[in-house]
Amino acid sequence: MSEETCENFFLVASEEDLRLKLFWNEKIAKAEGWQNFKAIDIDLYQIWREWESESFRRAGDPLWRALGFKGRPGEIKAHDRPPIIFDATAGFGIDSLRLLFYGGEVYSFERSQLLLKLLASGRGELLAKLPPEVSQKLSWRLIAGDACNNPTALPRPEIIYLDPMYPPRVREKGAQSKEMRVLQRMVGKGSEEEDQRLFAWAKALSPKRIIVKRPFYANPFAKNPLASIKGKLLRFEVYSYSSLEPEKFSLK
Ligand SMILES: C[S@@+](CC[C@H](N)C(=O)[O-])C[C@H]1O[C@@H](n2cnc3c(N)ncnc32)[C@H](O)[C@@H]1O
Repeated sequence: MSEETCENFFLVASEEDLRLKLFWNEKIAKAEGWQNFKAIDIDLYQIWREWESESFRRAGDPLWRALGFKGRPGEIKAHDRPPIIFDATAGFGIDSLRLLFYGGEVYSFERSQLLLKLLASGRGELLAKLPPEVSQKLSWRLIAGDACNNPTALPRPEIIYLDPMYPPRVREKGAQSKEMRVLQRMVGKGSEEEDQRLFAWAKALSPKRIIVKRPFYANPFAKNPLASIKGKLLRFEVYSYSSLEPEKFSLK
């Protein structure tokens, strides 16, 4: 993150919540027309509670299918052994949270220090509010810095999840979520070069699956995906370069 973007964004703590919120200054508000959009407040605990609802469990979540897990989302209580999942592009942590919710042992990488602090406070609040019998089973580590320089002491991942920055289509700009627009302002738009570097790193770790989240209008991320699972506005491409079959993770 450049110094300029650091100056323009800041985190604020409030007395009533345990989590930090992300704000920006007048300069950004004017440039983006965000006068009525004041802050980003991501309540991971509330999101988790919504996912526990029956309507969420009934929906055939494309990410669930991309992971290759059996059963229905949310039915899962425990994996025989939780699959180790690296989320190399944590951002606001919503996708990491989903991977955690689905029973993964999750390692989330984020190179923006500000976002990492936001994530840490959100995770802290989530773990504090969940019943202890649930929170004790969860394993979610946050790792600062570029995922491609990940410390060798980490275990080898079975699944690597990538959601790189992707430039919006010009006419889609208005339809882009506010959260994504804030992210683009903070960390930039990403580039093909960056994408390729991340993908090469992921392949070198030889996981059983690499899952890439793509907007519906984007070209395939790489050649020969094993599967491409479509959601409403996006799809998950699944790649496997491991010599092993992309196994179905067995669940208790
Ligand atoms: C599109 S956002 C991810 C959004 C995220 N999936 C969520 O649920 O909020 C991409 C994020 O990945 C981070 N990022 C991109 N490349 C990275 C890398 N090589 N290492 C660590 N973080 C990276 C960016 O800083 C940005 O916050």
